[in-house]
Amino acid sequence: MKPVAQWDSLNWDDLSWEFLRSEFAGGGYAYCALERRLDSYLRHHGLHQIVNDGTAYGRLLKCVIANIGVARRRGVIGERATAAFADRQTSRTGDTVDDRVLRDGVELACRAPSLHNSQPWRWVVDRGTLHLFADRARLLPGADSAGRDLLLSCGAALDHLRVAMAASGWETIVGRLPDPQEPDHLAAMTFRRSETVTDAQRRRADAILRRRTDRSPYEVPANWPELEPRLLSSVVSHDVLADVVQDSERPTLALASRLTETLREYDEVYQAELEWYTSPYAVGEGIPPTALPAGSEARHTDVTRFFPSGARDDQHHGIGDDRSKILVLSTHDGTDRIDVLRCGEALSGVLLEGTLAGLASCTLTHLTESTLHRDVIRSVTRAGGSPQVLIRFGSAATVTEPQPMTPRRPLADVLRGVPT
Ligand SMILES: Cc1cc2nc3c(=O)[nH]c(=O)nc-3n(C[C@H](O)[C@H](O)[C@H](O)COP(=O)(O)O)c2cc1C
Repeated sequence: MKPVAQWDSLNWDDLSWEFLRSEFAGGGYAYCALERRLDSYLRHHGLHQIVNDGTAYGRLLKCVIANIGVARRRGVIGERATAAFADRQTSRTGDTVDDRVLRDGVELACRAPSLHNSQPWRWVVDRGTLHLFADRARLLPGADSAGRDLLLSCGAALDHLRVAMAASGWETIVGRLPDPQEPDHLAAMTFRRSETVTDAQRRRADAILRRRTDRSPYEVPANWPELEPRLLSSVVSHDVLADVVQDSERPTLALASRLTETLREYDEVYQAELEWYTSPYAVGEGIPPTALPAGSEARHTDVTRFFPSGARDDQHHGIGDDRSKILVLSTHDGTDRIDVLRCGEALSGVLLEGTLAGLASCTLTHLTESTLHRDVIRSVTRAGGSPQVLIRFGSAATVTEPQPMTPRRPLADVLRGVPT
């Protein structure tokens, strides 16, 4: 990605006028927020890199806001569009959110999934802007030497934050990777008051608290033909590729899964991490025994990361092999950090969509952590791109007590700038 300095030759003022003259600024899009129109305009013209460069995007947005009044006076935009933009003229940095709302939003965002429940994020509130940072100290070098899972986890937290804030009546305006000098600064977020909170937004935020990573074998999801397009379309706005592995390709995936895990049996760093993060003594992080599969459950699941056996009932009452559907999320062209971050946001989106549809789900990255097996996954998906994460979806077969929530670190450890 070009750092912002390389955009210097671009005339931001001209580009802002081109946008204001375009159909994307017209009254026909009056129901859309300014940022959404600008995003669509840039993507439509192949300028994805500006959308993905928080600083460049912020610079362009400023020019657009500064020109709205003149555009109105010159008749470039009509009254309807001006009315829709009016709040941006008076409130350039967004509205001020109450500390308590931000605190609650971050707390809900921290329910996001993360590799081994490592929660590799930090949040800082500074003058009304909420910043998300990657916490490198929580990187797991054995499983995730490239830091891909770390970015995916932070992306999931970012999307959870947006969902939480929407349910509290706030639209989140996200600038991703806003500082090229500080790669761990993943997002700067400002907020704008929404006119309404819909039931759908509330239900989505509630789904955050219902979602669990369920490592048991599943039944084929009921109504799969209806659910599949619903899940796939939930990731469209995140600009990632999604596909469901065909049943005929499943044996290839299962073989790769077994192979990768067998190879790792002798990887001391990987095994030491796994041991720590599944130890019952890890407080506020890691995977508790109640969330680990019983031996029989693991034996019936062909595509899975190997974990030590957990504390669940090992009586496998007549359940057959896992018949889940496996969804693959891929980035367009590889390893650009911003794309992986976005993929994490899409992961959150599709997991919450699945929860809303009553599906059990399990995120899987043991295969995408290895270059060799990323190629295998690429060969069994039709979407192309660079595979980043797999998700098993299905109907939970074991009807026992609901799985307890996994713990999270205390909010005071991950959030600065507001009272916790
Ligand atoms: C990037 C990423 C990779 C993950 N990889 C796996 C995996 O390979 N196998 C697995 O069982 N769970 C995996 N998980 C799920 C986490 O272990 C889980 O989110 C975490 O323990 C917290 O539990 P919860 O999702 O139930 O809240 C992954 C999650 C993320 C975000």
